[in-house]
Amino acid sequence: MTGRPIIIDTDPGVDDALAIMLAAASPEVDVLGIIAVAGNVGLDKTSANAAALADLVGLACPIGVGASGPLGAREAESAEHVHGGNGLGGYVLPPSSRAKVPGLSLLSSLIEASTEPVTVVTIGPLTDIALLMAENPAAARQVERFIVMGGGTLDVPGNATPAAEFNFYADPEAAARVFAFGTPITMVGLNATHQALVGPEHLPRLRQSGGRIAHLVEHILADYERAGYGMGGAMEMHDPLAVAVAIDPTLVSTAPRHVDVEDAGRLTAGMAVVDHRYRPGSPPNADLAVTVDVPRFRTMLDERLADLDTRVGR
Ligand code: BDR
Ligand code: CA
Repeated sequence: MTGRPIIIDTDPGVDDALAIMLAAASPEVDVLGIIAVAGNVGLDKTSANAAALADLVGLACPIGVGASGPLGAREAESAEHVHGGNGLGGYVLPPSSRAKVPGLSLLSSLIEASTEPVTVVTIGPLTDIALLMAENPAAARQVERFIVMGGGTLDVPGNATPAAEFNFYADPEAAARVFAFGTPITMVGLNATHQALVGPEHLPRLRQSGGRIAHLVEHILADYERAGYGMGGAMEMHDPLAVAVAIDPTLVSTAPRHVDVEDAGRLTAGMAVVDHRYRPGSPPNADLAVTVDVPRFRTMLDERLADLDTRVGR
């Protein structure tokens, strides 16, 4: 094994795709497996995209098919308006012929079989993780840390609703359960990912290399802009920032905070409630990402994806 063992739970998703590329390009992490969950698009598409992306970047790890929708009676949310009907902004990758396995048992078995403690990076709704905690709490407790892309501080508006970030809104009950469970969590929320803006001008090496990765990234950035979500040509790198924190935790500063997630509110379902007070009743249960070393993050993305592009070829 070369790097820190990680598992990625994901709903690709354009920024998920970039996150998977970054992980594959980084020797500091060893991707044990990828579990697809329903989120940005339906499970059939997120699992197909996860496998096709693993093929593209040369990741030989197993691909799991996780939950097809949120816990309880809640209806599945999607974000096709942001990620396109196929989840990749309309970009069509060659379909993967690799076999996929049931996601929850893959998650359990990878954690149990690892000789080193595993970090789980969650960049989709938290349904699979909440199910793992309910069905195999011993395995969930073996996880060294969950790096969770989701939520945000109360001063930052949501992106799915005025109050809620998409991953938490898509399954508020699961998110609330994960934060109540007690395993170490780093929360990479919108307050951090809003800082991680990346546009074509921040990726000079990748643009120059011009291979398949460069082409896909160029398409994703252009489609994001076309869909009206670009920030002056740049994109908020929500999911890549979570993977970057697994690669190099010093890219963000963190503060210990108590985090809970509203799982019932009529207007506020999925809202992360980050308590900045220190009260005996609400001890910190998460390390909240606060500031991002943006120049270093941009350089990491550019250099690593450019190297991957050279490896992957045209
Ligand atoms: C999160 O929601 C999804 O749409 C993105 O892929 C990311 O995981 C950002 O709120
Ligand atoms: Ca995602």
